[in-house]
Amino acid sequence: MLPIRDCVQQTPGYVPGEQPQTTDYIKLNTNENPYAPPDEIFNNLEEELKKVRLYPDPVSTKLRKAAGEVFGFSYEQILAGNGSDDILNIALRTFVNPGETVAFLDPTYSLYETIAKVHGATIKTISTNEKFELDSPLICPEAKLIFVASPNPPLGKHLNRKYLKETCEKATGVVLIDEAYVDFSDEDHWEFIKEYDNVIVSRTMSKSYSLAGMRVGFGISSPEIIEEMNKVRDSYNLDRIAQTLGTNCFQFEDYFKGIWQQVRSTRNRLIASLRNLDFFVFDSDANFVLASPQWIEASNLYTKLKERKVLVRYFKHPRISNYVRITVGTDAEIDRLLEVVEQLKNES
Ligand SMILES: Cc1ncc(COP(=O)(O)O)c(C=O)c1O
Repeated sequence: MLPIRDCVQQTPGYVPGEQPQTTDYIKLNTNENPYAPPDEIFNNLEEELKKVRLYPDPVSTKLRKAAGEVFGFSYEQILAGNGSDDILNIALRTFVNPGETVAFLDPTYSLYETIAKVHGATIKTISTNEKFELDSPLICPEAKLIFVASPNPPLGKHLNRKYLKETCEKATGVVLIDEAYVDFSDEDHWEFIKEYDNVIVSRTMSKSYSLAGMRVGFGISSPEIIEEMNKVRDSYNLDRIAQTLGTNCFQFEDYFKGIWQQVRSTRNRLIASLRNLDFFVFDSDANFVLASPQWIEASNLYTKLKERKVLVRYFKHPRISNYVRITVGTDAEIDRLLEVVEQLKNES
């Protein structure tokens, strides 16, 4: 018998959205940015590639400095991660002993549960209301760490700010506010870092900066918290190419702000069009929408769309079993999705 830890054996493992091996799909299932980053970010890549023999900068200096300038924090307040998933894992390993409690909402980003289980943590979930929103602050005095995403998937809306503030105020442990989708909205939680000494904000370049394939994320907090988390991360957690492209992307803020705006305007059109096609659709602050077709089972819609080469996300979670989550693509991709949906509706 292999000495596999009980908590690992008992974990089904994270199920990521499908990454098809062919390019003939319209891919609206994993919240990637539909627009490529500017070509200029590749200008110095050749130089970096020639240095692959050498380890990368272990502490991602240039990247953290560039992020600090854009985010308005000092370099000492920023930890770079191999995607923001890395930051979530580092936080767990920094603040929670196996057996201690981690709290998060239900439903939310399902990776919180997977990593907490694998870590051997005790899990406390707090249900959102029937609209997937908070009715009150998230209070869990025994939690060493609370993960809260705002905007929160699968809904994609910001959590009530007042409740979130109270969550930070009343927490006895650390609160990690996961802002993976924040750039597609009008709000952020930077001030929470300044106001409370137990708050970490995580950010990713996977969505708004079109770098999902590079795995670049950040944890932003007080220098004291970052110093402790820094001990826990892998020694070379970001490779050379990820550091270079991440740093370069921060030089093109205007370009990215333009595509965020474009995604928001396509999102609004998508929501309105789906409502016209007899879907129940929530508003969204993210680059995806949660929608429930009123004329077909959501699982069936997912399958039929896939047969027609349009990939959306379907979750088996009981609370959202009649919804699909659709990533906001380019206007042309959304036009194609809507065209196929309309055909399916006419056939139903
Ligand atoms: C809420 C949330 N946080 C974090 C992530 C992961 O981001 P990254 O690609 O930076 O690991 C995702 C990805 O889907 C997400 O939905």
